Amino acid sequence: MMQWQQQRCLLTGATGGIGQAIARRLADRGVTLILQGRDEVSLKRLQHALPGDHHILVGDLSTAQGRQMVEDAIPALLPVTMLINNAGVSAVGDLEHLAADDIERVMQTNLLAPMWLTQQLLPDLKQQSQAYIVNVGSTFGSIGFACHSLYCASKFGLRGFTEALHRELQDSSVHVMYLAPRATQTAINSEQVIGMNAALGNTMDPPAVVAEALIEQLSSLRARKFIGFPEKLFARINGAFPYLVDNALAKKLATIKRFAGQHSVESNL
Ligand SMILES: NC(=O)c1ccc[n+]([C@@H]2O[C@H](COP(=O)([O-])OP(=O)(O)OC[C@H]3O[C@@H](n4cnc5c(N)ncnc54)[C@H](OP(=O)(O)O)[C@@H]3O)[C@@H](O)[C@H]2O)c1
Repeated sequence: MMQWQQQRCLLTGATGGIGQAIARRLADRGVTLILQGRDEVSLKRLQHALPGDHHILVGDLSTAQGRQMVEDAIPALLPVTMLINNAGVSAVGDLEHLAADDIERVMQTNLLAPMWLTQQLLPDLKQQSQAYIVNVGSTFGSIGFACHSLYCASKFGLRGFTEALHRELQDSSVHVMYLAPRATQTAINSEQVIGMNAALGNTMDPPAVVAEALIEQLSSLRARKFIGFPEKLFARINGAFPYLVDNALAKKLATIKRFAGQHSVESNL
């Protein structure tokens, strides 16, 4: 059974919609949090709003300078028993019209930063009697979706990284898990993306649904958790019979392109 009050959790993307919901659920259970994000003011506001004593860790995980700031601060924050790689960004639009630096921004934040942070913390995590890593992926880490090529690539990569690491650490005390939300109501979803989800009939969960799923996953130590039906079914069908999903999504392509436009609009899916 999870000993919540003995956990010290480094949570990236803590100030975001899903991050704040996770932070609240964990703080309510007595977990000590290390709240990570880029904006010191928002991090401090969250730190003081939560029950308990928590820490903040400022740094842009997509830049070498930001990662150096985080690396320098980590030793004073140890031990860590739990790492939740939740920070993420997206770029929505057809590939030829996305900005060239979107490629690096999305891959650095969603894929390379979780790999790097995990590597930084692993020696300490392995020292703990039980330790936990949760990587927040997406339904789009299992289903390639038009006008989301960069985001899908990053989350497919994160899913592969998580699965390999889970298997690598099965002989250790470190539990590695992958949590895949479907579309969720957070501020980063642009009006276009909200409109696209409505037109496609895609449900958007409140962030609390993701936070509750995470609590359940940590309690049960399930290696993979996909949120929402029919999304979890489509993810399985896509794995086994991708041509069926090719055909289903071809019918939706005009709608997707109508909302995604030819410009990059920031969103998380
Ligand atoms: N919302 C959805 O529809 C949805 C669906 C499936 C999966 N997800 C995944 O859920 C996770 C959380 O997303 P969200 O919906 O809560 O989005 P959000 O509200 O925009 O929050 C994103 C968080 O990531 C942080 N972040 C972004 N770039 C960063 C960087 N370079 N360095 C450090 N922190 C950075 C932001 O911190 P700052 O305060 O510094 O900006 C913010 O706290 C993401 O991994 C996302 O891909 C979201």
